[in-house]
Amino acid sequence: MNAKNSDSHMTTRRAVIKGIGSYLPERVMTNDDLAKIVDTSDEWIRERTGIVQRHIAADGETTSDLAMHAAQRALADAGMQANEIDLIILATSTPDNTFPATATAIQARLGITHGAAFDIQAVCSGFIFALNTANSLMITGQADNVLVIGAETFSRILDWEDRGTCVLFGDGAGALVLSAEEGSGENSDRGILAGKVRSDGRHYDKLYVDGGVSSTQTVGKLRMQGPEVFKHAVKNISSIISETAEIAGITMDEVDWFVPHQANKRILDGTARKLKLAPEKIVITVDKHGNTSAASVPLALDVAVKDGRIKKNDLVLLEAMGGGFTWGAVLLRW
Ligand code: UT7
Repeated sequence: MNAKNSDSHMTTRRAVIKGIGSYLPERVMTNDDLAKIVDTSDEWIRERTGIVQRHIAADGETTSDLAMHAAQRALADAGMQANEIDLIILATSTPDNTFPATATAIQARLGITHGAAFDIQAVCSGFIFALNTANSLMITGQADNVLVIGAETFSRILDWEDRGTCVLFGDGAGALVLSAEEGSGENSDRGILAGKVRSDGRHYDKLYVDGGVSSTQTVGKLRMQGPEVFKHAVKNISSIISETAEIAGITMDEVDWFVPHQANKRILDGTARKLKLAPEKIVITVDKHGNTSAASVPLALDVAVKDGRIKKNDLVLLEAMGGGFTWGAVLLRW
């Protein structure tokens, strides 16, 4: 999915970021709150995961509600009207309904009657898969102005009696508005410069939901072999970061900011050690948000843009790994 052009005289369509927005539900659940529900402690959760608190959607507050807030904030940030958008891709594993795609509900609520909207399901890697898909549709001329959203209500699929999983996840949403623009084909262009997606279904049952339409006709609860996921995470994330940098022909030192999926601070530290990344270049929000699955990368990105760390023309590397297993990365110039 590299958009780099070998002929430097030719122009290339680039998916350029125009706006960003995010939303967290009002209710904050601390580690101490969780210790009242399951046999855990603030100390254990902080030490093993780096998580201090997470946000939980209100009763009746759905994934599309969270996504709408994030989308409207991203559109306002871009200075664009909803009807300028001709494609919406929503990354989620917690849709409002089994079908239709939650993205179509967002399309209708934004008053958009043209173009297309669909969901992508790659669990915690969903936003990276959605961004790579958006980029492909944009550089082939099928879409001009695109909303890419990651939104989740994982609180609805947690087993609140399983201390091994319920302490890890939170709810939230983040969105980007991208517009197709002509670039030079060089890495100095703004927009998405390279990307890669991967999966390995042999690990299907290491992180999954034990229900489904075709199997049990129930929604099910999240099940995870935590240490197994942990073991693969650092290896997969490190390799995808290196491969994506190689596609673009850049070195790790040239990257200004790493915005990883926020699953566990120890995974982020392990990856940083393995790739010798400067810790001060890594954006960390897992302490405040927990693991919000497909929403975690755009939520972290929004924090680092709003607090002034990520500036126009900075080189940013996004990455994620999740159930499937799936993993992927996107390199972009902000
Ligand atoms: O987006 C990708 C999704 N997931 C991930 O990236 C998660 C990857 N995995 C992890 O982050 C870690 O494996 C966990 C944080 C889930 C668990 O940490 P760990 O260091 O791998 O712990 P463990 O599962 O090996 O459990 C160690 C002990 C066990 O007790 P015993 O058997 O040693 O007595 C667990 O029962 O910790 C216990 N434990 C807890 N204790 C207090 C597990 N969860 C908790 C808890 N509070 N919440």
